[in-house]
Amino acid sequence: MTKITWKAGTLLAPVPPALISCGTLDKPNVMTAAWTGIVASDPAMTYVSIRPSRYSHKIIKDSGEFVINLTHLPLVKAADWCGVKSGKDVDKFKEMGLTAAPCSQIKAPQIEEAPVSLECKVKSITNFGTHDMFLAEIVAVDVDDKYLDEQGKLWLEKAGLIAYVHGFYYTLGRKIGKFGFSVEKNPKKIKEKDFEPQKKQKTQSSKKRNFSRNKKAK
Ligand SMILES: Cc1cc2nc3c(=O)[nH]c(=O)nc-3n(C[C@H](O)[C@H](O)[C@H](O)COP(=O)(O)O)c2cc1C
Repeated sequence: MTKITWKAGTLLAPVPPALISCGTLDKPNVMTAAWTGIVASDPAMTYVSIRPSRYSHKIIKDSGEFVINLTHLPLVKAADWCGVKSGKDVDKFKEMGLTAAPCSQIKAPQIEEAPVSLECKVKSITNFGTHDMFLAEIVAVDVDDKYLDEQGKLWLEKAGLIAYVHGFYYTLGRKIGKFGFSVEKNPKKIKEKDFEPQKKQKTQSSKKRNFSRNKKAK
């Protein structure tokens, strides 16, 4: 294997193409941000890095609030569109058929259609050249109850979340294991029943096999 060393860059992947909503219920805006992540678990802290030229930048700076809405397959077109159009020029909620819903702890609206929305209060703004990093506390988490089972356990894998990798959007692939599976005494014990049942994907070769079997049957 030969690795080529490039100059410094932002090639971290996958990242979430998150929908960052801000403003008010009457005048909501939303932009897409891939440069977001978790900073600490208790208190739950996050950040989003936003260029000062974005329309959302001033709104978030002035209000001190925003919502990180996770993107699933039904929202991926909106995530791309809200990442190329500005709220300066269009009502993105209206154009994308998104619903601005109230949050429990902040005035900024969440996107009702999103599977998970994180209500955030800005703690500090730090400039790093091209972007300002909004460090924020997550003050509430809103989850679509269709991803909860009867015990109230969240099965986020059911949501079909989207990953953003080097300019392209992807659905997530096959589940490989759960947290800590590598140190299980007997990794074989980790079976499908440990997880929500998944439909087996037909591989190309199994499709071919079935096809030739059907042909023979005829
Ligand atoms: C997938 C994707 C990721 C993006 N990530 C960021 C980001 O992390 N920070 C940022 O400032 N802009 C990011 N953008 C660009 C903004 O979403 C875009 O400029 C948007 O039009 C800003 O909207 P606004 O002017 O209404 O605030 C991203 C765009 C896309 C499509």
